[in-house]
Amino acid sequence: MRILTGIQPSGTPHIGNYFGAMRQVCNIQDKGETFLFIADYHSLTTGPAPDALRSRVLELALNYLACGVDTEKTVLFRQSDVPEVCELTWILNNVTPVGLLERAHSYKDKIAKGFAPNNGLFSYPVLMASDILIYQSNLVPVGKDQKQHLEITRDIAIKFNNQYGEIFTIPDELIPDEVAIVPGIDGQKMSKSYNNTIPIFGKEKEIRKAIMNIVTDCKGLEEPKDPDHCNVVALYKLVATPEELEEMKERYRAGGYGYGHAKMALFEKLWNYFEPMRKRRAELESDIGYVWQILAAGAEKARAEATRTMDKVRRAVGLR
Ligand code: ADP
Ligand code: TRP
Repeated sequence: MRILTGIQPSGTPHIGNYFGAMRQVCNIQDKGETFLFIADYHSLTTGPAPDALRSRVLELALNYLACGVDTEKTVLFRQSDVPEVCELTWILNNVTPVGLLERAHSYKDKIAKGFAPNNGLFSYPVLMASDILIYQSNLVPVGKDQKQHLEITRDIAIKFNNQYGEIFTIPDELIPDEVAIVPGIDGQKMSKSYNNTIPIFGKEKEIRKAIMNIVTDCKGLEEPKDPDHCNVVALYKLVATPEELEEMKERYRAGGYGYGHAKMALFEKLWNYFEPMRKRRAELESDIGYVWQILAAGAEKARAEATRTMDKVRRAVGLR
C-alpha cells in the first residue's frame, strides 16, 4: 500500500501545528510505505518571495525530520525535484472539465481572501491530482479542507482510465479523527495569523515569555480557580500525563496556587517534551548538507516511480 501526502512550506511551526498536523503525519509512516513531499510548486500559486520559498522548504524538511519523520520508512522529497508532475498536469488538464474546478471551495476561499485569481490557483487541484496519481497512491492522509481535492482527483483518474485504459490507481483519502484545536496564548485558535503562538523551536526566553503572557482571569493566588476554563490547563493537557493533569486541576480547585505557578509548570513540561526534537533539529541544522542529501535520495526514489507511470501515460495518450 502506498501512502502519500504533501505539505505546503509555511514558516515557523508552533505547537498547534505539531499537535494538529505534524504528529499525525509522523504517526502515519508506521502504517505502510509513505511518500511525503514538500509542495513547493503549489506554494507558487500565492506568489512567495523566491528566497522565502527556498528557506521555507529547508525549514519544513528540518522540522519534520526533527519531529519524527523516519527516512527508513518514509520517502521525503521536494515536489519540484520530480518535474514529471508538471507534464502529467498538462495531460490531465485535457480530461478535466472547467466546471469541476470552478466548484472548488479552496479556489473561491483564496479569491475571497484577496489572492490574485491566477491560473495556477485555479488549476491547483489538477497539480494535486498529478501528485497523487503519478505515484499510484492508495491512501492520502489530508485535513478535512482537502476532501474535495481528493474527490476531484478521483473524478480525473476515473475519466482518464475510461478514456485511455487502466493506468491510475484510484486513491482514497484518510481524514484523521477531529483533533482538538490548540488554543493560543490569547485563547483564540493558535495561528500565525493571530500572533498568539508558542513556537516549537523558539529560544528558551521566547517560549517562557509567550507562556507568561497566556491570558487568564484575574483571580488572586489564594482563590480557588476553575481548571476547566483555563488556557494554561488546556495547553498543559497536551504535554502532561493524566495524573499530572489531575494534580494541577486539584491545585486549581483548592486555591493557594497561582496562575504564575501553573505557567511555570507548563513551561517545564513543554520544554522537556520538545527537548529531543530540539536536539535533533540542532544536529540537523549543523549538517544542512545531510538534509539536502535526504531530499535528493527521496527525489530519486520518487522519480523512479513517476517515470514508470509517465511512460505508461505517454504511450496511452499517443505521445509515444
Ligand atoms: P497557521 O494557522 O498558524 O497559519 P497553518 O494553516 O499553516 O497554521 O496550519 C498547518 C497545519 O496545522 C494544518 O493542518 C492545521 O490544521 C494545523 N493547525 C494549525 N493551527 C492549529 C491549532 N491551533 N490547533 C490544531 N491544529 C492546528
Ligand atoms: N493541497 C494540500 C494542502 O494545502 C497540499 C498538497 C499538495 C497535497 N499536493 C498534495 C496533499 C497531494 C496531499 C496529496 O494541504
